[in-house]
Amino acid sequence: MGQYMIEGGNRLYGSVRVQGAKNSALPILAATVAVGVPCVIHNCPDLTDIDSTVKILKSLGCEVHRSVGSVSVDSSHISSNCISDTLMREMRSSIIFLGALISGTGEAVMTAPGGCDIGLRPIDLHLTAMQKLGIRVTEEHGQIRCSCQKVRGNKITLSFPSVGATENIILASVKASGVTTIINAAREPEIVDLAMFLNSCGARISGAGDSTIVIEGVERLHSVQYAIMPDRIVACTYMAAAAVTSSSIIIDEVIPSHLVPVFSCFEQTGCRIETAGNKIRITSPQRLRAPETIRTMPYPGFPTDCQAIMMSVASVADGITLINENIFENRFKHVAELNRMGADIRVHDKVAVVNGVSRLQGTRVHSTDLRAGAALVLAGLCADGVTTVDSICYIDRGYDSLAKNLSSMGAKIKRKD
Ligand code: EPZ
Repeated sequence: MGQYMIEGGNRLYGSVRVQGAKNSALPILAATVAVGVPCVIHNCPDLTDIDSTVKILKSLGCEVHRSVGSVSVDSSHISSNCISDTLMREMRSSIIFLGALISGTGEAVMTAPGGCDIGLRPIDLHLTAMQKLGIRVTEEHGQIRCSCQKVRGNKITLSFPSVGATENIILASVKASGVTTIINAAREPEIVDLAMFLNSCGARISGAGDSTIVIEGVERLHSVQYAIMPDRIVACTYMAAAAVTSSSIIIDEVIPSHLVPVFSCFEQTGCRIETAGNKIRITSPQRLRAPETIRTMPYPGFPTDCQAIMMSVASVADGITLINENIFENRFKHVAELNRMGADIRVHDKVAVVNGVSRLQGTRVHSTDLRAGAALVLAGLCADGVTTVDSICYIDRGYDSLAKNLSSMGAKIKRKD
């Protein structure tokens, strides 16, 4: 499962380049199945979730070649439209292949992706939307079968701006007959990246990034080379690393506008943020002040994926921080682990009350999910003594070269597999 051994108390310096966005790369790689001709995806991070996605693409009969940072996919000769339960369970977001397979082959057979560490993660919004597009959906014995001769465009109102459901509707309707309108669509930057990829293949998608997205179905899509946008959650993680170690670093190859929802939170702690083009310099004070209440919301609100990361910052800030997790029902599993390090955090239903302490103590802690694992690494960077973070396979799902990048900025972190 692998471990990180971290010796706390070291200042960071210099700069770090941010990887391509995991939550863009996954839907865009799935979208190559809808495109149906060879595509090359650049700035693709080296993650185990990408490995899982490549396994699914190959199991469908796609030809996939990987070089450093790039993945080429030829989906001209798809031989299957069925994803095995094993592969579905490897990665929760494998559900994103549903819409892509419908567009690419007219049929998709997969198992319901299990719930996971942060919540039940149902797919009712996905399936209801598929039915509104004229797709036949059957579910029995845990297997989902979707089929359709020709997808018919329709108007779909989402009761919640689900990122995955928005992506699946776009993917299923990109070659539909007629126009599809999504009302109350997710506005995350990853939706914009997916739409930009598909439009560069000849799709006609407008409004991505707003609450109403219009997809005018086209007959066919063409090959393209496309570079994935930077990962805003990873960028926030490196900002937090500077904050908890009273450091000043430069974070390179980011899109500052994607980070506006977290900038005010860091500034409330006393961090200074300067932006220039695709660079951010963050300078942390000697002692952090507790940020005001954090409420996770759909974009452009505070991202739920940064909740655990900011909890580590709040754990060593001066004062009390309330953190309200509104998106997932089970995303406080890192609290017990942070408290083992001497943090003072109480959870009441959806609210965590963080009473900042001056120092955390290094000890052995357990990653319960991807972002929780990253939060524990951050806590280790500023704890007294050595922190061992185990089950780092969760962290490998979303962070490319985390230890190498932190070490290059002066952190004392070693990986033990
Ligand atoms: C995406 O998950 C991201 N994953 C998540 O990042 C992120 O936390 C989440 O969006 C919210 O921003 C990828 O993009 C691969 P949702 P997704 O559908 O699409 C409920 C990470 O750490 N819901 O917007 O699954 C759901 O239970 C991961 O990188 C339904 O009820 O998120 C949740 O409470 C974690 N029915 C809420 O909506 C549905 O049919 C948000 O889910 C779908 C969702």
